[in-house]
Amino acid sequence: MIKIFKIVWQWLDDRLGISVLLSPMKHIAPQDSKWWYVFGSATLVAFIVQVASGVALAFSYISSSSQAYETLLFITNNAPFGRFLRGLHYYGASAMVLMIGAHMAQTFLFGAYKFPREMTWTTGILLLAFTLGMGFTGQLLRWDSTAAWSVVVAAEQAGRIPIIGDWVARFILGGNTIGGATLSRFFAIHVFVLPGIMFAFIGLHLWLVLRHGISEPPVAGKPVDPATYRAEYEELLKKSGKPFWPDLAWRDVIVVTGLIIAIAVAAFFVGPPALDKPPDPSILAADPRPDWYLLWYFALLALIPAKIEGYVMIGFPILIGLLLLFVPIWNHKGERAASRRPWAIAVVCLSVIMIGGLWWEGQQSPWSPNFEAQPLSEKVVGATSGPVFKGGQLFHDKGCLNCHLIQGLGGRRGPDLTYIADTLTRDNMVIRIVNGGTNMPAFGPSLKPGELDDLVAFLETRKRPLRPQDRSPIAENQIFQ
Ligand code: HEC
Repeated sequence: MIKIFKIVWQWLDDRLGISVLLSPMKHIAPQDSKWWYVFGSATLVAFIVQVASGVALAFSYISSSSQAYETLLFITNNAPFGRFLRGLHYYGASAMVLMIGAHMAQTFLFGAYKFPREMTWTTGILLLAFTLGMGFTGQLLRWDSTAAWSVVVAAEQAGRIPIIGDWVARFILGGNTIGGATLSRFFAIHVFVLPGIMFAFIGLHLWLVLRHGISEPPVAGKPVDPATYRAEYEELLKKSGKPFWPDLAWRDVIVVTGLIIAIAVAAFFVGPPALDKPPDPSILAADPRPDWYLLWYFALLALIPAKIEGYVMIGFPILIGLLLLFVPIWNHKGERAASRRPWAIAVVCLSVIMIGGLWWEGQQSPWSPNFEAQPLSEKVVGATSGPVFKGGQLFHDKGCLNCHLIQGLGGRRGPDLTYIADTLTRDNMVIRIVNGGTNMPAFGPSLKPGELDDLVAFLETRKRPLRPQDRSPIAENQIFQ
């Protein structure tokens, strides 16, 4: 029996060249590359999870604006293992982004991007960009109102990019507004364009890993010298190198298995993100925010002054991208050990703190309207009838409270209006409400006659209570004269 297997295997192997194909697995690598080196394999495996679960999802998904949401409901609630598959795809994406981050931080801290592995790093950075592109395009395929709104917001923000903004916004939406064309476009990019490019680049990346070898762990005081590095590396491999498979790969196998189990457990027990309501441009009550790995950038754009938003939106990723791409070009030799490159440690720490902090802000999303705002109580309004009372009610009913705070109640999208009457005259209030402003809709068309007067009457009562020390000195003097 075993003999037959052997004969069949030998025949297949001879005709197909399977062991030649697999021989790169046996390449000799430095022996002391320990647990730090597992993140690359983990990223690759997360990508494979994404391809497998993505293809499975595509069996049932219809990328038409009238059916996408329905098919997702079907996948989530009816299809066998559908919910689990969506979960795999969602947590697989998160895992892939996390593993890329860890892989980048590790290769950066170990100076692995230095001679002769500059292009290995560069292709890795491009793969990072494609992965984030997958995240962005994948989100819209959910085609619920949150997903649709985050793309609308992204397009709106893109529209503010100087000069090319209009074009970028139109390119994202596939027209002037979000609709079927947007969905088709995102679907094509998500399942054909980006994965195709990624397969090619992963192949190139792995080929470069084989060509230049896995970098040996850095030793402080042993800088990279392009003139001698290759010979030294050969020497090291001869002395203490081991075949990657089977001698060194066991750590990767353990981590990768753990990762798959973690993704599956999260997918099974936590499940995919709940679907929001179907997209309806007339419902403002969506909380447009992208998935966590893009949320921090969203937060950055929302927190900076609106005037420079357009420049930052396009300038920031280009700047960071160029910096990352060119790291190995201007820094390709010298010390590799992190202990001799304190700035490298600082860069990694600062990036983690910055992204973490922005992510936290994004979680709180003070800029996004608060749709849970409850009507103001009579005590806060300070009246039980008349224009002030009606204005207080309108302030909730018209959605003002979603964006504005009154005595700590409401939303934080717009300025706090608790003491607005101290700073704004009646006329200016009217102008603002009728015309709106940056990030405030114009209410002129939607207010009935009288409603504007009631709203303003309410706002005019929003004054700081007059305490003796708040009175102007002139008034004091007049009292004493
Ligand atoms: C979508 C969020 C949003 C809604 C809804 C909204 N506002 Fe605003 N509001 C803002 C923002 C943002 C600003 C700041 C605009 C600017 O400076 O150009 C603002 C500014 C104002 C100001 C001027 C504040 C100042 O300090 O100059 C007033 C008054 C005001 N809003 C009243 C209202 C009233 C009344 C309503 C309901 C009819 C309302 N807003 C609804 C977001 C909103």
